[in-house]
Amino acid sequence: MKEFEKIREDFPLLKEFTYLDSASTSLTPIPVIEEMNDYYYNYNSNTGRGNYKIAIKSSNKLEDGRKKIAKFIDGNPDEIIFTKNTTEAINIVVNGLNFKKGDNVIISNIEHHSNLVPWLNLNNVELRIANINNDYLVNLEDINDLIDRNTRLIAITHISNVFGSKQDVEEISRISKENNILFLVDAAQSVGYTQIDINKIKPDFMAFPGHKGLLGPVGTGFLYLKKEIAENLMIKNLGGGTVRNIEGNNFTLENVPYRFEGGTQNISGIIGLSKAIDYINNVKIENIENYCNDLTKDLYEKINSIKNIEVYGNPDNIHHTVSFNLKGLNPYDISKILDETSNICLRSGFHCSMPSVRTVSPENGVIRASIHCYNNFEDIEKLCNELKLISQLS
Ligand SMILES: Cc1ncc(COP(=O)(O)O)c(C=O)c1O
Repeated sequence: MKEFEKIREDFPLLKEFTYLDSASTSLTPIPVIEEMNDYYYNYNSNTGRGNYKIAIKSSNKLEDGRKKIAKFIDGNPDEIIFTKNTTEAINIVVNGLNFKKGDNVIISNIEHHSNLVPWLNLNNVELRIANINNDYLVNLEDINDLIDRNTRLIAITHISNVFGSKQDVEEISRISKENNILFLVDAAQSVGYTQIDINKIKPDFMAFPGHKGLLGPVGTGFLYLKKEIAENLMIKNLGGGTVRNIEGNNFTLENVPYRFEGGTQNISGIIGLSKAIDYINNVKIENIENYCNDLTKDLYEKINSIKNIEVYGNPDNIHHTVSFNLKGLNPYDISKILDETSNICLRSGFHCSMPSVRTVSPENGVIRASIHCYNNFEDIEKLCNELKLISQLS
């Protein structure tokens, strides 16, 4: 615990604000910011292009980042594609697969818009929706019932950004393999909070943010893409860095992963993300997971004990995110009051996940408090004391 108190010093914003919106984006520790500054001060140059010293250094740092990310999830570096966020990673898959008329894709009714709208936007592909049970877990029988011979892919979020429930992705992966269906996991809310092991989950695709659980900078993310599949994906973002040769009107693509990384990359961001992984490794992911579970338990229990409150989540399976409402009050007003009176930052509304929030609060959405390892029990106490005062307004 002491170790986590010390960590707070790496996040100067916490001196002024109680930050409870890590599910949107996490705070970035000083060593990560310094690493990015070092790039700009001392070797600012493009990657994979020049042969002068500083260009070689930035290229090497970028590739070191790829190796570090791969090791972190137990994958191979050539299966890691840099993206600007989770959404872009999912879109590479959606727009890369050659769907046929009549194909169908299965998702759940608690997906973030980033794992919903790109599928809705596909012509000729039927989107099938598996429902959640009362415990906020996707009903596996529903998934089984929805599968038929035209099912090409199942895409499921690992941890819900509204209910904090962690899905049994190993089991869903097993179901998809058994039926010869591709499997995509949206790891936006799980990476950095819990150990991700590609060899256990066995997804074909896994989409990651750098800027949430991993404590990396905004504008970073990555896609894990199984090599055999990567070779056959269509690529929409072609240009510099993606081709090996051009003869007349014909071009040959670069190897995977470079063919997916058209144009100049977010070099400082990726170098920062690489440092953020060092930071997480230093604290140790198991410690982060245990500490965040303790904080979440306290958050859930304290919120749940407030009069006139409705909490949406299963206390036996809730991870770093607690959504709730104070009866008779608008969630938007509550987050505004918390900000104005006490510098508590949290989000209210539909959380880019309308179908999921509408299952519990169709009118105005929910208030969501989400934590990371830089939060402490005092943050929770402070939030709950304020909520108690506000609840008297209803
Ligand atoms: C479950 C889930 N999927 C996808 C996303 C989109 O992430 P990004 O902002 O990195 O594109 C989010 C963001 O909150 C999310 O919570």
